[in-house]
Amino acid sequence: MNVTLRGRTEHFRTVSFDAKKNSVRLIEQRLLPHEFKIIGTKNFRETARAITDMVVRGAGAIGATAAFGLAQGALSFRGGDLKKFSTHVKTVYQTLADARPTAVDPVNAMNDVRRKMLAGKTVAERQFLALAAAEEFANEDARHCEEIGRHGAKLICNGMKLLTHCNAGWLAFVDTGTATAPMYAAQAQGKKFHVYCDETRPRSQGASLTAWELAQQKISHQIIADNAAGHLMQRGEIDLVIVGSDRTLGRTGEVTNKIGTYTKAVLAARHKIPFYVAIPHSTIDWNLKSGFDIPIEERNEGEVLGAWGVTKTGRREYVRIANPTSGARNPGFDVTPAELITGIITPAGIFKPKELWRHRCKLGFND
Ligand code: MRU
Repeated sequence: MNVTLRGRTEHFRTVSFDAKKNSVRLIEQRLLPHEFKIIGTKNFRETARAITDMVVRGAGAIGATAAFGLAQGALSFRGGDLKKFSTHVKTVYQTLADARPTAVDPVNAMNDVRRKMLAGKTVAERQFLALAAAEEFANEDARHCEEIGRHGAKLICNGMKLLTHCNAGWLAFVDTGTATAPMYAAQAQGKKFHVYCDETRPRSQGASLTAWELAQQKISHQIIADNAAGHLMQRGEIDLVIVGSDRTLGRTGEVTNKIGTYTKAVLAARHKIPFYVAIPHSTIDWNLKSGFDIPIEERNEGEVLGAWGVTKTGRREYVRIANPTSGARNPGFDVTPAELITGIITPAGIFKPKELWRHRCKLGFND
């Protein structure tokens, strides 16, 4: 998407690859909205660390990062021994797959790269194919988001008030985003609407990232405390909810997304407000049969006990908010059951969550 900094507008992708340096280029998202900086990782281990430490975050973005990280690892191999190369690639794959457990996009992306690599007969051919496949994944991610925008824009009418949770914007993908894609497409069609961004504690991706994106695109918006949505829904001030997902089960229609999504879905159902989830094909898990089997990331308690911010002098600082002797529990994601979801906006159209399996061929299922 376009970013305007000090009066200059430039197009950026969240994730890209510098082939000359064999480096994955990432927007350092922990610094946003206070500083816009691109960093480059030196090797696949640094790329995995960037995912774990949330330099890059959001399901599609970490999917593309893992795909490039796998290519980066493959390209760093020296020699022509195919057996040793395969062992090395396995290590790279596992390191990147372990970086964050809940989102399925990294695994789907790397499986895609690995499958395409196998067509190569030599190490050099496989290295070449790995990078080509990672580039293809990133381009497809961007294309899918555009298509989600095209389908989802139909849901947005003039004067509507929307709610979104966490950041499922272009920073969470390679470009455009999923939950935000219908908003950007509706804006391009000249529609006027207002977006409430859930703050999304504990890491505040809504307040810092979604709000920054919407401000950059000049979309009318306000940040609300996570606890405010019920009140606004009760007063008729929210017409539509659109969120993203880190793993959607193709067999059951259950949706994993940032902690607090389930609460919003329950509230939306109570107030008969349409609740949509926007996903590319790479977010669908066709294997798991129950939401209870999804690995839910438990994060450091420090995220709940305090918060990061910027002082008046521009220094990034962590401040403790909670009682000094108390601990915290910090699950990063929750699972929303299919019956609370009005529809899933995909690149192939909008489906009822329980219809995903029936439409699996259109939705990228291969096997
Ligand atoms: O912990 P994060 O910031 O990676 O979580 C991101 C979200 O939960 C997004 O809503 C999700 O990835 C869906 S959009 C890619």
